[in-house]
Amino acid sequence: MIGDGDMADKKRSLTGDRPTGRLHIGHYFGSLQNRVKMQDDDSIERFVMIADVQALTDNFNNPQKVRDNVYQVLLDYLSVGIDPEKTTIFLQSMVPELAELTVYYSNLVTIARLERNPTVKTEIAQKKDVFGESVTYGFLGYPVSQAADITAFEGELVPVGEDQLPLIEQCREIVRKFNSIYGDTLVEPKAVLPESANERRLVGIDGGAKMSLNKRIKGLDGNEKMGKSLGNAIYLSDSEEEITKKVMGAVTDPGRIKKDDLGNPDICMVAYYHGLFTNPEDVKIVCQECREGKRGCVACKKQLAANIIKKLEPIREKRKYYEERPELLDEILINGTKKAQEIAKETMRKVKANMKLNYFDK
Ligand code: TRP
Ligand code: SF4
Repeated sequence: MIGDGDMADKKRSLTGDRPTGRLHIGHYFGSLQNRVKMQDDDSIERFVMIADVQALTDNFNNPQKVRDNVYQVLLDYLSVGIDPEKTTIFLQSMVPELAELTVYYSNLVTIARLERNPTVKTEIAQKKDVFGESVTYGFLGYPVSQAADITAFEGELVPVGEDQLPLIEQCREIVRKFNSIYGDTLVEPKAVLPESANERRLVGIDGGAKMSLNKRIKGLDGNEKMGKSLGNAIYLSDSEEEITKKVMGAVTDPGRIKKDDLGNPDICMVAYYHGLFTNPEDVKIVCQECREGKRGCVACKKQLAANIIKKLEPIREKRKYYEERPELLDEILINGTKKAQEIAKETMRKVKANMKLNYFDK
């Protein structure tokens, strides 16, 4: 129940993903791992939202894709260890208060401000195929809807990747504006970026150079971004064969033709991925042998593929467990959504009261 004494000093965290595709290892290192780790912290009440409404903003003409991916993303969550007993998993579209809040917040944001949001700006530029020359009202306004998601749950902590920072900032502005006009009502959120756990894994790829921790994980082809359309990502649900095939096709130091050519692991994606999946001592050996021309690329890739397969094996097994029990999936979503609805209703009541919209309340 909301308002329980023991909940009073708990902070809430809210985060989510658009169900537009299966999740890949970039998501894993970027945020999933962090969410699983946060589950041990009793001072936080956690919510994870499958953002189907937001997914529709640029997939409005493909509802089946969104629906199918709701279940794929849920399976990804469960398979990495997001535990529905510890984290409330819910569906955005099933909490209509979020849409209602979006309408009220939309008065507090200008078009110019939305157009300046760097995340939205980049996305619009990338989505010319969807929007043509003029972006929809819904897509331009999704930061407003995201502010509704966060504030409906008084989500003080928002664990996200770096790309989401402009959205959190926009949410904070909406909160301040709302509170200044209608009185103190909403909680200002803070972003929680993926932290040192990643740094530890990433340091020492070449025994020295330090990879930056909040950056996205690059694709197997060296592209800054990992994605389905680019074909350069390893999905959490990939089979052993798919993983091996993808690793064998990864971009290596182009200067190495023969095994005894001296290599440069700094420009090799296989070395980069060893940094994520291979233990630090072995990473040092990989880089050293590569530089000295004592290591063949094929063997190096095989070693990497084996390490990735091993790391993802428990994830694949857990996924299989849930795939074989689809009734559990609906049960998890229904229970989580019920809990989310209660909290959103409570926020809505406060918001409407302060906006003088509480007509029939006694
Ligand atoms: N924008 C997020 C993404 O691109 C999804 C999302 C929707 C979200 N609502 C949120 C993230 C609220 C954090 C908090 O995947
Ligand atoms: Fe990359 Fe390994 Fe080949 Fe060196 S030996 S270039 S690290 S694949």
